Amino acid sequence: MALDRVAAIVVAAGSGTRLRASAPKALVRVGGKPLLLWAVEALTVGGVTELVVAAAAERIADFTQVLASQPVPARVVAGGASRGDSVRNALAALNATAAPPDVVLVHDAARPLVPPEVVARVIAAVQDGDVAVVPVIPVTDTVRQLAASGSTVVDRSILRAVQTPQGFRRDVLTAAYAAPAFANSTAVTDDATLVERLGYAVRLVEGSPSAMKVTTPHDLVMVSAMLEV
Ligand code: CTP
Ligand code: MG
Repeated sequence: MALDRVAAIVVAAGSGTRLRASAPKALVRVGGKPLLLWAVEALTVGGVTELVVAAAAERIADFTQVLASQPVPARVVAGGASRGDSVRNALAALNATAAPPDVVLVHDAARPLVPPEVVARVIAAVQDGDVAVVPVIPVTDTVRQLAASGSTVVDRSILRAVQTPQGFRRDVLTAAYAAPAFANSTAVTDDATLVERLGYAVRLVEGSPSAMKVTTPHDLVMVSAMLEV
């Protein structure tokens, strides 16, 4: 299988409660561009050739307009109540097309500065035969695990923090989201976990501190600063 067509699902339907901005988080501007466009640019430079963006239903027109300025085919669909619901809706839209792509990346719009090299690395790993690929970075903080009484330090050398974009064979991701036992799973915060529950191995590749997620106002300051260096 050639696996040469690569789509990305960009989840951008969250409310951005913790950022406390007046606009949806994905439309908040940094360095003169909405977070969404930074993310899309990194994906396309990294090798993605089509996009499905999940947005809040009442914002579909705004998102469509923002995406008009970028070069690859992009559709905007209504997201859902949880991140997983948003991925599921976007994946359904992708699967409904006449010739769906072989490889699907799932990326948070809230990670605007993911380096294109990370995107390319994820794509290459899927094309080389891994069905689920996750970028990770080492944990730099010392981590403590809470116990019933007190706490203990965890060996951080065996921990990795998970980022996006995560890459999948489209058929495998579709099967994971279709599995009835997981259909309403709210405890799942990433897509690879669903695929893993089907019994597939998850391959880790090197992520980047630049792929940090914008969650709080402080994160936005960090991202602005990163654009200046
Ligand atoms: N997301 C989504 N649909 C949802 C919830 C989240 O598409 N129902 C997306 C967000 O838009 C974001 C990514 O999933 O790009 C990661 O979520 P998070 O950082 O939590 O963003 P928000 O849910 O928007 O922020 P908050 O939790 O502070 O409200
Ligand atoms: Mg959220």
